[in-house]
Amino acid sequence: MALGLLLGLLTTGTAYAVLVPAPQRVSAEAPLVERGEALYRRSCLTCHGSALQGVPDRGPSLIGVGEAATYFQVSTGRMPLARSTAQAERKPPPPEFDPGTEEGRRNLAALGAYVQAHGGGPRRPEGSGAALVGPDTARGGKLFRSNCSQCHNFTGRGGVLAAGKFAPNLHDATPEQLYTAMLTGPQAMPVFSDRELSPGEKADIIAYVLEVRGQRNAPGGFNLGEWGPTTEGFVVFLLGVPALIGVALWLGARA
Ligand code: HEC
Ligand code: HEC
Repeated sequence: MALGLLLGLLTTGTAYAVLVPAPQRVSAEAPLVERGEALYRRSCLTCHGSALQGVPDRGPSLIGVGEAATYFQVSTGRMPLARSTAQAERKPPPPEFDPGTEEGRRNLAALGAYVQAHGGGPRRPEGSGAALVGPDTARGGKLFRSNCSQCHNFTGRGGVLAAGKFAPNLHDATPEQLYTAMLTGPQAMPVFSDRELSPGEKADIIAYVLEVRGQRNAPGGFNLGEWGPTTEGFVVFLLGVPALIGVALWLGARA
């Protein structure tokens, strides 16, 4: 009896949640660009302007930046920007733009289509995920060393640049984000158009980045923050010197 009542309540509740649309939601049926416009008005207009022309001291024009830049900036959580810093930082995207969910992907596509409709610009790559991971990791490594490592380090760990800027660790970037970062060159990063790095070369670079990421879960179980010889030397000092003193004392005691 109580169980029946509970079940009844649960089904009514679920049916209600499913059938009654949440207010404020942009309708899923609206054509892509229209849906994108509604999302833009809500999350981006205050800084980028009613016609994407930009707003002085708030945000640059988005005319011609294209859907690739939109995808990169929004899916990595850089946009919508919350506060001005030397450089917009990667952070978890708001749930409505989370590329890990169906709704997030749909909203990202809509927003991209809306921006793309204003002056064109670099498109997102066809395909996603594994389709963007090339077969030739060795070639990817060579290309990475000549094009990316001066800023992102040889293993993609990242590094400090001038004026409060930095090249981020490539730990978390998805294949789409790696691809669109290369295509659009955010901030201090150069643009790698398809003339500079063909789609196939980009895909091999992505394969390399994913591979070194895998390798870096230090075989010893503890990677000392990956800061290199300095920390390693320090740890040797901390552990090694007492050990040597111990040996010396032991030898002394035996003599
Ligand atoms: C609080 C202000 C603010 C909001 C809100 C905001 N942006 Fe931005 N946006 C900026 C600033 C400032 C920059 C340039 C600095 C940077 O890239 O870090 C920028 C840069 C960008 C760029 C890169 C432009 C280029 O030339 O490559 C894109 C794309 C972008 N924003 C899209 C969006 C979208 C889409 C939204 C809404 C989901 C949004 N922004 C919301 C302030 C904002
Ligand atoms: C001149 C230095 C420089 C070079 C060279 C460079 N980058 Fe970057 N990269 C940056 C900077 C700076 C950012 C951060 C930009 C921002 O936050 O707006 C960045 C951001 C990224 C991101 C975003 C990471 C994230 O998690 O959000 C990816 C992915 C990336 N770079 C990949 C590459 C690849 C691949 C190459 C080589 C083809 C490359 N970069 C070459 C400076 C560089």
